[in-house]
Amino acid sequence: MGKRRKRIRIDRILICLVFLVALIFLIRFIIYIIFGFKVLGEAKKGNTIKLYHDNANVWKKTVKYINENMDEVNIKYKNYTITMDSSYFKRNMNIKPDITTKKINSGEFYKQKGIYIDNNNIMSIATSIKFKLPHYIYKNGYVDLYGITDDGTYVLLESRKKVDKYYTLNVYDNYKDYFVTYVKLDSIKTTQSYTLEEGETKEIKLEFNPSNATNKKVVYTGYDKDIISIENGLIKALKAGKTTIKIKGDDMSIAKVKIVVNKKKEEPKKTEKIEVKSKVTKGEDGIYYIDGIMIVNKSYPLPETYDPGKLLPEFMNAYNEMLADATSDGIKLWIQSGYRSYDYQVGLYDMYVKQDGRAKADTYSARPGYSEHQSGLAADINNPSSSFNGTKEAKWLKENCYKYGFIIRFPEGEEEYTGYKYESWHIRYVGKVISNKIHEAGDISLEHYYDIESKYSN
Ligand code: DAL
Ligand code: ZN
Repeated sequence: MGKRRKRIRIDRILICLVFLVALIFLIRFIIYIIFGFKVLGEAKKGNTIKLYHDNANVWKKTVKYINENMDEVNIKYKNYTITMDSSYFKRNMNIKPDITTKKINSGEFYKQKGIYIDNNNIMSIATSIKFKLPHYIYKNGYVDLYGITDDGTYVLLESRKKVDKYYTLNVYDNYKDYFVTYVKLDSIKTTQSYTLEEGETKEIKLEFNPSNATNKKVVYTGYDKDIISIENGLIKALKAGKTTIKIKGDDMSIAKVKIVVNKKKEEPKKTEKIEVKSKVTKGEDGIYYIDGIMIVNKSYPLPETYDPGKLLPEFMNAYNEMLADATSDGIKLWIQSGYRSYDYQVGLYDMYVKQDGRAKADTYSARPGYSEHQSGLAADINNPSSSFNGTKEAKWLKENCYKYGFIIRFPEGEEEYTGYKYESWHIRYVGKVISNKIHEAGDISLEHYYDIESKYSN
């Protein structure tokens, strides 16, 4: 009797267990169906899809839906919003969001704290990822983003990006990891005094310490607006007198500059104003100069031995300043091709000659020694091809690069002066004084502005 009762009890328990397991499966199935539909139901172009769990089937359904209905999609998953391009999904149905974050303790990079994001598969294919920043980073209002290459090199990708609690990381190709940080500006150094003549323009040179400070935005105050005006870091002398400029960074670092403006010497009156522009001179280094800047074109080559090995600091400083403002304007810029050695240009030009013949190659590629890329003062931005023309990035570059000391080196309509086809992507650093003058002249070419030639002798 007792045995029988015991067996019944065991049977009941077993039946209950089976029911329980079945119920769990049923509930899971129902949840799956509901949430599966919810994922799809919410998915409209531009909407954010909440991915409640990463069940492979739900994910697959979502991907299928995205493929059919959207170009770009935001997917909310755990604490992240991932923006992806549906064209990628078409090729990769099986990807799943899988992002981990790891905090780095101070001392690891410029003695700053930051966030380190592990780059799983998803990182290299997502166009952007939004994540929450820790307070000690976002309280400053700005961050720098570095990409980390396979060999562990940190490359500055976005400088002085404005942030709040969240950071939207634009995912670039070729970087295995990313690093977000804030470096405080300790001090600003500058030339202590400038003497100008009425009507003259000079660039205020600033040195930031540390040089990789995140926020280098400064304001100029305290000066007499009748004596000078300041725009884009350029002082213009208006009338004779003395004044002092206070230069203040967002981080409260202050520098002072004394300005003396002298009366313009009276020039003998001329009946006809003949503008004599400075002509090209050859330096002892074998490099050609005009108006204090290096000139490299089809008439004025660089010596084969000239080899700065990288983009020069004056280029990079101006570029980072421009990059910061572009980023704040929602414009994504990167250097596609910067410094190129003489030998590198040999290979590049040869390839183009084989492809298109010498005459055609000469319209878009410089011969070795004749390329500005060898100077360390020029770079191709984003996409060196005519498909870059007219993009919002190209437009921004054209309208703004002069503010930072750059010019579009081969402008549209200037082909007869430069000897090259229009290149909306090729910028050259000439310094703010000259870039502003060229801008005022209508963004013409260096050759046009200085009335010099760019022609091969053979
Ligand atoms: N594409 C420019 C002209 C260069 O090769 O330097
Ligand atoms: Zn170029």
